[in-house]
Amino acid sequence: MAAPTIESVVAQLLTPGKGILAADESLGTIGKRFAALSIASTAESRLAYRTILFTTEGLAEFISGVILFDETIGQRIGSSSAAGALTGMAMVPGIKVDKGTEALPGFAGEKFTLGLDGLRERLASYHDLGARFTKWRAVFAVGDHMPSSACISANAHALALFAALSQEAGLVPIVEPEVLMDGSHTIARCEEVTAATLKSVFAALLEQRVVLEHMLLKTGMVLPGKDCPRQVDAAEVAQATLRCLRLAVPSGVPGIVFLSGGQDGVEATERLNAICQAGGPWRLSFSFGRALQNLAMKTWMGRLSKVRAAQAALLHRARCNALAVQGRYSAAAEANT
Ligand code: 13P
Repeated sequence: MAAPTIESVVAQLLTPGKGILAADESLGTIGKRFAALSIASTAESRLAYRTILFTTEGLAEFISGVILFDETIGQRIGSSSAAGALTGMAMVPGIKVDKGTEALPGFAGEKFTLGLDGLRERLASYHDLGARFTKWRAVFAVGDHMPSSACISANAHALALFAALSQEAGLVPIVEPEVLMDGSHTIARCEEVTAATLKSVFAALLEQRVVLEHMLLKTGMVLPGKDCPRQVDAAEVAQATLRCLRLAVPSGVPGIVFLSGGQDGVEATERLNAICQAGGPWRLSFSFGRALQNLAMKTWMGRLSKVRAAQAALLHRARCNALAVQGRYSAAAEANT
């Protein structure tokens, strides 16, 4: 069967009323999340957990695509490859292709993302394995002098090369510059930093001739730092987020999908709902990792007897977020488990 066109993959990922499940935690990250729940992290336990997530009955009603980690795309789910199993369940398989972050030399507290070496070859083999979209994450810490322009430009350049190489390989890039929630900064400071990073990222994308219509942006909501004394309601988050995105994201980008970044699951849904009610020139949706998975993982905790309950927890969060994308989420929907 011929591979779908890049346009059709963009359209499928942005199916109205659906979002993306990020299940692409690196070995280190999933190891930490499992350890916090005393779940042993082995190739078998990680596969068992992700199989539980992906085979949740009805998930494809709310989830258009799933981001995998390198280990998972090489594993088998039942008698199929992981990508084949997802495709068979009507969800588009994607793959995280960055190799994590490392300290930026000369800039204490800042990071740059690794993974460009050999990327063209890796993309070709991921395409052969059935992946149809890719993701690359850059992180920006917020502080008095952070992010530096050096950190922004190094990461913007890498994001743009990643996106250009993905499109060359026939894959839809999800470009993810994440402004971290750690710290006591205000929502206004987050807005300023998010706008500055997005402007640099789009300048770099255009310079590398990335086709904006053939990519998605994955960004954080504009939020006060976790330790900021003034926390805000969902309406204020929506207002700041949309003001910032309208300023910095070209309307040619077909879709913006939000990461959850460590927000509580229900809070992330409430804020997504407020953002999507206001809307923008792009299609808006979610690409959540923790906000979709946390309760499911905690419910499972490695126990066979809890598989169904874990799947119910995931399905509920996916359904609530799918309602939020349509601006139709409510306390009643949350209570309706
Ligand atoms: P969170 O929603 O947990 O932030 O994960 C999304 C993601 O893909 C981070 O790269």
